[in-house]
Amino acid sequence: MLSGFLMDLGAEVRVDAAGNLRGLYAANPAGGPRLLIGSHIDTVPSAGAFDGVLGVVLGLALLEALEGRRFRFGIEVVGFSEEEGVRFGVPFLGSRALVGSLDAETLQKTDRDGRTVEEAIRDFGLDPRKLSVAVIGSDVIGFLEFHIEQGPLLESLNQPLGVVECIAGQTRLDVAFRGQANHAGTTPMPLRRDALAGAAEWFSAVEREGFGTDGLVATVGRVKVRPGASNIIPGQVEASLDVRHARDDVRRKAVDSLIGAARRIAAGRALQFQCSPILDHPAVTCDSGMTDLLERAMTSAGYQGPRMTSGAGHDAMVLASTVPTSMLFLRSPGGVSHHPDESVWPSDVAAAIETGLRFLAELEEEV
Ligand code: GLV
Ligand code: MN
Ligand code: MN
Repeated sequence: MLSGFLMDLGAEVRVDAAGNLRGLYAANPAGGPRLLIGSHIDTVPSAGAFDGVLGVVLGLALLEALEGRRFRFGIEVVGFSEEEGVRFGVPFLGSRALVGSLDAETLQKTDRDGRTVEEAIRDFGLDPRKLSVAVIGSDVIGFLEFHIEQGPLLESLNQPLGVVECIAGQTRLDVAFRGQANHAGTTPMPLRRDALAGAAEWFSAVEREGFGTDGLVATVGRVKVRPGASNIIPGQVEASLDVRHARDDVRRKAVDSLIGAARRIAAGRALQFQCSPILDHPAVTCDSGMTDLLERAMTSAGYQGPRMTSGAGHDAMVLASTVPTSMLFLRSPGGVSHHPDESVWPSDVAAAIETGLRFLAELEEEV
């Protein structure tokens, strides 16, 4: 459907080898540099309707609002694949393809059915050998991502829009506690090696760490208990850990402290503890020139939104390593996201479109 809209707006559409939808609205004269505008088209379980895809639809809305006007730069609308990391445990697969960091190791990550990223690409009818064609070149002058805020700040300030200055770094780990599964009726309490009881002690330590450090968020969001029956002492627990902070040193110290706590808890209960790194992405500062330009565009459109830090990860984090990147947040009613109640006000969407149009017009002066 998005492809059809893009084609109707005069864009040349393709799906690259990482499954990213890409629609190029050419420059005039043709062959000029290009600005990328986009966000992701995948989502999370029990999701709302806006996290990600709103940023793609806003790219389309801008093309529509241009009514055929062309700039000296082309506009490539991108719908990134696999940003959330739900299927393979690793986020940003689509955007990593654009910056050339979707490496062989990541292509071998598996989903819950044992299918690798590489196999999934083939299943989708794409050719992983063509991933190098997805990589952006020096003709890309910047990346602009529109996204719902996914938090309460803009609503509390009564502002429709905010300009992202920094995106918090994040660490994701898979952890496992192993004990001894045994009969829940016959094994006396002192003789148990209950993996879930140990893991639960650690989950509380994770929450305490988050509460105890200003600006830190620490989450166990996925837990699997094996064998998983009411009359069996849990022999194994697998869980995820997600830790974020705007300062990398604070985040890494918290992660070290949590791994240390897990080892101590495991040792005290004769359990084994293992952890494997999934992601260690540093905090990212958006490009100052593009961010200034975006703020001017927002202000001239009549909005006084703040500069802010994003606690959520975004494809912009990945693109920022290669191209000048900026991000505009739209207010999230109720501060709710990763939930079916996620929403956005139509008037805030109109404010974002007006800001985007002014951003494009200003950029035209600079190119
Ligand atoms: C993406 O939604 C994230 O986990 O921050
Ligand atoms: Mn998300
Ligand atoms: Mn998102």
